[in-house]
Amino acid sequence: MSGTMEPIYVTKTFLPPEEEYLQWLRKAYSTHVLTNNGPIVRELEETLRARFDVPYLRSMANGTLAIQLALRALNVKGKVITTPFSYVATTSAILWEGLEPVFVDIDPATFCIDPNLIEAAITPDTTAILATHVYGIPCDVEAIDAIAKKHGLKVIYDAAHAFDVTYKGRSILQWGDASTLSFHATKLFHTVEGGAVVLHDADADERLRLLRSFGHIGDEHFSLGMNAKMSEVHAAMGMAVLPYVEQCIRDRGMIRARYDEVLRDTGIGVLPTLRRVEHNYAYYPVLCETGEHRQAIQEELGRRNIFTRRYFYPSLNKLPYTNGASTPVSEHTAEVALSLPFYPGMPDRVIEIVGTVVRQVVDPAKALN
Ligand SMILES: Cc1ncc(COP(=O)(O)O)c(C=O)c1O
Repeated sequence: MSGTMEPIYVTKTFLPPEEEYLQWLRKAYSTHVLTNNGPIVRELEETLRARFDVPYLRSMANGTLAIQLALRALNVKGKVITTPFSYVATTSAILWEGLEPVFVDIDPATFCIDPNLIEAAITPDTTAILATHVYGIPCDVEAIDAIAKKHGLKVIYDAAHAFDVTYKGRSILQWGDASTLSFHATKLFHTVEGGAVVLHDADADERLRLLRSFGHIGDEHFSLGMNAKMSEVHAAMGMAVLPYVEQCIRDRGMIRARYDEVLRDTGIGVLPTLRRVEHNYAYYPVLCETGEHRQAIQEELGRRNIFTRRYFYPSLNKLPYTNGASTPVSEHTAEVALSLPFYPGMPDRVIEIVGTVVRQVVDPAKALN
């Protein structure tokens, strides 16, 4: 039977009922407003701002421009301390802004930047910390906040994975000077393509408004800007997806529990559940003992039409265009981490097959019995 299964990918985009999306689209048809800060975009922004209880939230064309424009809105210059364990966009956004990434290794318990290593990396040119709540696991926001205050640094969180994650009962987006979100179709909440920037300061938010939209308001030009606007068609998808997010998180929680159960005695590492954190179960990565095990599991699953992804590889200090400073924990994690298929509605059989394949690879003798 295994040969007949449809290909299973690491994620499958959630689609709301077609009619609900069409209802939102009809609004755009009725107004003929399709972009330029239209009413659906404004409604989405206000709904999300209230949901996260943050003072300012602006939608963006995608999560990469969200990081770039957040850096600009906060006037970040020079060197930016950042995590090497994230999606490539975290680093490329720094480079596109003409800034220098300084990689600080991660905490092996959370995969987020290790605050104990940050101070040693600060120099007179350092102006900001850009850290990722990777897999939706919150960074040590309190420690980072204390360091940033002591050294006068801005803090930007790449919260692309952290939609609806809370810490001590409050949205994780309430921390830092800025948080950026991605609403890409692969994300828990999506607008097909899209993103947002959360800010806490009115002046920075005003700069962001201009940066997002060519630097002008009507015929008055104020600053250099670009086009990072979200369209009404994208915001319509967001409004249609939003009512289903809680259910998606519950479903993901159940799939995660089943994976945990199947993998329990295999010695394969799974994500931590942190105290005082409400997780969103955005990803299900496993940490293999070695790179060889990771490769064997990936290949064996691929033969069974189950396609995994190396989230996150490479360690970003190893990109061909970065400075290559050593971050051994991140480099090891990038070698052994493998994200398994994980989405509501995923066939149960996938979990069983993953369990069987993992056992075969990590302990072939036992798997035969
Ligand atoms: C951690 C992280 N940052 C930034 C991005 C970039 O977001 P986008 O694809 O919306 O540009 C992504 C994902 O795509 C991501 O995973």
